[in-house]
Amino acid sequence: MLILGIETSCDDTGVALTRNGCQVLASRVSSQVEIHRPYGGVVPEIASRAHIENLPPLVHQTLGKAQVRLEEVDAVAVTCTPGLAGCLLVGVSFAKALAYALHKPLVGINHLEAHVYTAGLDKPLDEHPPFPHLALLVSGGHTALYRVDSWTRLAYLGGTQDDAAGEAFDKVAKVLRLGFPGGPAIQKRAEGFMGAFIEFPRPMVGQGYDFSFSGLKTAVINYLRGREWEDEEITRVAASFQHAAVDVLVTKTLRAAGELNLRHISLVGGVSANAALRQELSRRGEEGGFSIYLPGMAYSQDNGAMVAGLAYHYLREGRTADLTLNAVA
Ligand code: KG4
Ligand code: ZN
Repeated sequence: MLILGIETSCDDTGVALTRNGCQVLASRVSSQVEIHRPYGGVVPEIASRAHIENLPPLVHQTLGKAQVRLEEVDAVAVTCTPGLAGCLLVGVSFAKALAYALHKPLVGINHLEAHVYTAGLDKPLDEHPPFPHLALLVSGGHTALYRVDSWTRLAYLGGTQDDAAGEAFDKVAKVLRLGFPGGPAIQKRAEGFMGAFIEFPRPMVGQGYDFSFSGLKTAVINYLRGREWEDEEITRVAASFQHAAVDVLVTKTLRAAGELNLRHISLVGGVSANAALRQELSRRGEEGGFSIYLPGMAYSQDNGAMVAGLAYHYLREGRTADLTLNAVA
């Protein structure tokens, strides 16, 4: 079954074509980083307009790369929640029109569930995390732990009470004037740092399955206040912040997995591209007897393949949408 997936929930326009859920025939992502860079963050109205311009050529490129004609597509899937309202609306309207014109089923996909699905995307079945497993979702908008009973049944265990992990990376990078997007900039700065870390707090590390990152961000701001910071100090702060954030995420995830007796753990979402987080979760997880599952680097960030891939499982359960499908921010 050939499914076309469309993702426009934030600032990346993603279009992909998958076969039977797991095989990615083509995936194209148009990043808007350069458009938003002068503003230091995503401007929703500008992002929506860019999605409108990006979608038609991306669909053509994706079909061309996969050597599939539009009429051969069996279903159209689109992210309909959560995200920026205007951005979601562009994708949803586009997908509805396409499904209607092609007389093919439409599938509305939850962006967070799609991220969770990336742990199995474009991998043979024996490399998928078995059910139930624990998923740590870390992105620009969300930080949450889920027990994944099947690709379409997720139980929410806990999440951030304030900033998301990626949001904290982005805000700290802004304070350090490292540019946008902040996550990759902090990682780059922190690479190869061999000095002593500043001991930043690890909020809520010992309790429950919820997270808090705003206290860590404030601690960084307070540390910098009234200080002269040269290049070396920026590197030390970036590395120490990353070290603390990674430590909280890994410690809490492993504790949750232990308490819930889940031996398989996946790491998904934009922040799962972070090398320190990947390494630390893999190292400490495997030491603790857990199996760790990471998405391919191309699928950490927002993309259409995760939407098309998950839609296959929705379709198998008969969960299609009609033309009243709406975007829910
Ligand atoms: O999943 P995603 O593409 O979009 C949302 O659904 O939010 O995640 C984007 C987030 C941004 O906050 C970005 O700074 C962060 O992922 N990110 C990273 C890295 N690459 C992207 N954070 C830390 N280290 C990275 N290498
Ligand atoms: Zn995302």
